[in-house]
Amino acid sequence: MKAFIFSSFGSPSVLKMQEVSRPVPGEKEVLVKVMATTVTSADCRLRARNMPRGFRFLSGLIFGFKKPRKPILGSEMAGVVTETGSKVTRFRKGDAVFGMDGMNLGCYAEYKLIREDAAIVLKPESLTFEEAASLPFGALTAINFFRRGKLKSGEHVLVNGASGSVGTAAVQIAVNSGAVVTAVCSSANRALVQSLGSDHVIDYTTEDFTRNGQTYDMIVDTAGTAPYSRSGSSLKPDGRLLLVLASLPDTLSSYASVLFNKNKLVAGPATEKHEDLEYLTGLVERELYKPVIDRIYSFEELPEAHAYTDSGRKRGNVVIILSQRTKTDGIKF
Ligand SMILES: NC(=O)c1ccc[n+]([C@@H]2O[C@H](COP(=O)([O-])OP(=O)(O)OC[C@H]3O[C@@H](n4cnc5c(N)ncnc54)[C@H](OP(=O)(O)O)[C@@H]3O)[C@@H](O)[C@H]2O)c1
Repeated sequence: MKAFIFSSFGSPSVLKMQEVSRPVPGEKEVLVKVMATTVTSADCRLRARNMPRGFRFLSGLIFGFKKPRKPILGSEMAGVVTETGSKVTRFRKGDAVFGMDGMNLGCYAEYKLIREDAAIVLKPESLTFEEAASLPFGALTAINFFRRGKLKSGEHVLVNGASGSVGTAAVQIAVNSGAVVTAVCSSANRALVQSLGSDHVIDYTTEDFTRNGQTYDMIVDTAGTAPYSRSGSSLKPDGRLLLVLASLPDTLSSYASVLFNKNKLVAGPATEKHEDLEYLTGLVERELYKPVIDRIYSFEELPEAHAYTDSGRKRGNVVIILSQRTKTDGIKF
């Protein structure tokens, strides 16, 4: 099968298409023919070994210091089950599925091996493969952080960095949880975040939300510009700060904040569960959640898609189609 491999850390040019052997499923695994995958901020971090402050050593232990330990990137995909292990009960050959395999990666390939109990579910018929592939990374991160922060209906939530993959998901999940949502983004993305249901929008190029006197039950920071030192005074007395992008010191103080019972900080890696993907599928089927796709690239164009994602300016998600050659600019719902 064809796969994009990287054998050293660096710019998008380290990604090379190669022929590798197709994996064979173990007892509890399924083999999925990948129809679409994505380029996430995490793929770009891992490719370039560009980690949040303090995390370089830890990530080296898992992903390698000099040479990548997991040479095929890509954490989410949508496709069709082509083989099942002898003890698989949740899926059958021919099922259209989508999902995410977190730190196992391996989705930049024509076939992806995944455990049946990983975050993988049947694809709703209403979604294309590229729409389905764009969902798990942002949404599962948002759902996991809101669960850890104990989001309640009626609470006031501010999402800083509302136009990226996690931000567009966080806005939609918070709206669906009954929260009143303030989205912080640049003026170019105002219409996008409004279309996702935000009640208020703050343009960070003209207004600093930490200085406008408003307070929130929950602040979600996906941009890394709202650590506790800056945004703590914008939290209500029992408010929580969800640091999706956090340095190691901020992550450690999130654990300490629980001990000292102050404003609670939530940080650290999100974990993905198939139950959360089922919840998301339900929202999509009831048209309460929209996939947000910025650009679509062909498989051959994957390095270009990495270069675009490296810019830090993508809106929602960047999708790679493996089956045909198409490229679309703009937002596609
Ligand atoms: N803890 C975890 O488990 C976890 C999981 C997923 C992701 N993450 C981390 O979370 C971060 C966000 O991920 P992502 O995938 O959502 O990134 P992304 O899609 O690449 O985010 C791009 C968006 O960020 C916006 N942005 C850039 N600078 C901003 C600023 N100063 N203020 C507000 N918005 C800004 C950009 O909008 P403009 O062009 O308008 O500025 C753009 O729309 C990444 O660093 C990633 O590593 C952590």
